[in-house]
Amino acid sequence: MKRAFSGVQPSGVLHIGNYFGAIRRFTEFQDEYDCYYCIVDLHAITVYQDPEELPKAIRDTALYYLASGLDPEKVTMFAQSDVPCHAELSWMLECISTFGELSRMTQFKEKARGTESFSSGLFTYPVLMAADILLYDADVVPVGEDQKQHVELCRDIAERFNSRYGETFKIPEAIIPEYGARVKSLQDPNKKMSKSDPNPLSYISLSDSKDEIAAKVRRAVTDSGREIVYSPEDKPAIANLMTIYSLCTGLGFPEIEDEFAGKGYADFKKALIDAIIYALEPVQQKYAEYAESGMVSSILRQGAEKANQVSSQVLRRAKQSMGLSLLADPTRRKLF
Ligand code: TYM
Repeated sequence: MKRAFSGVQPSGVLHIGNYFGAIRRFTEFQDEYDCYYCIVDLHAITVYQDPEELPKAIRDTALYYLASGLDPEKVTMFAQSDVPCHAELSWMLECISTFGELSRMTQFKEKARGTESFSSGLFTYPVLMAADILLYDADVVPVGEDQKQHVELCRDIAERFNSRYGETFKIPEAIIPEYGARVKSLQDPNKKMSKSDPNPLSYISLSDSKDEIAAKVRRAVTDSGREIVYSPEDKPAIANLMTIYSLCTGLGFPEIEDEFAGKGYADFKKALIDAIIYALEPVQQKYAEYAESGMVSSILRQGAEKANQVSSQVLRRAKQSMGLSLLADPTRRKLF
């Protein structure tokens, strides 16, 4: 069975960009792939996280994994910090990554803009992500558009490792959806919807109430004109809202244009509010059920056990390739 690996940071709220761009799609892989879905708490601490809040955010992310339809009988879900191999392989890979390539990462440049007091972890963040993926011999990595560059870096690092130390890692491939790969901010369609955006009007969180969803959509920016037509260049705000409508309803853009021909933005926004509420309702319901059930901790414990087994074998292989750890390699053990 081929393997899929992906991760979500337990930092702040999860929004519909995370859901449509990643989490909902995770479920599409669970029948045909051996799936590992990680809650990447070590990535989250590259910026300060309140130690009281972080465990809740980890649990919340796991609950949304389950609420979105991931079946714990089929997939392995776990918290990254429960599997020590991630940090260990990350260090080994840091030693073959260059300052130059990490400096070119768009996400790093955006987050570090205008300051030098960011953590070193923020800089080496993509290397830890490469370690995450390579430790599971992943074939595919379902992610949103913003993570594509990181998966490409992961491929470069793996190829460099293989050519320097011999065939060790499988080269993974990013799977980016055609639509929904980059849901934009409701307040500025030139920016992606982001959980670190200080303005909550810019995103719809998976936990937003009906009233909050309605208020946010009503206040979402629109473009000039009044027609509902899909034209990302001329009408980026409407194109973004149409994308969200399409993701919620499964309708294509021509069908949406037909549905709203002769109608204006107010009618469209009304329908969009209903569509988002309808799409999120079952997720919110299941979230509440799983939260009540108290199953999450045992699911994460079992997930971590399995992840530890798989990743420790790959780490051992990587150490052997690099000439590290006598215990990993019986032929070298004899040297001493
Ligand atoms: P994170 O936590 O920022 O986002 C989780 C997933 O959601 C996608 N996403 C979006 N998709 C569409 N529109 C948006 N506005 C939007 N915002 C976020 C992201 O692309 C991602 O798929 N570095 C990763 C986590 C990570 C990881 C990994 C992913 C760590 N190790 C290994 C894959 C494989 C991150 O910060 O995602």
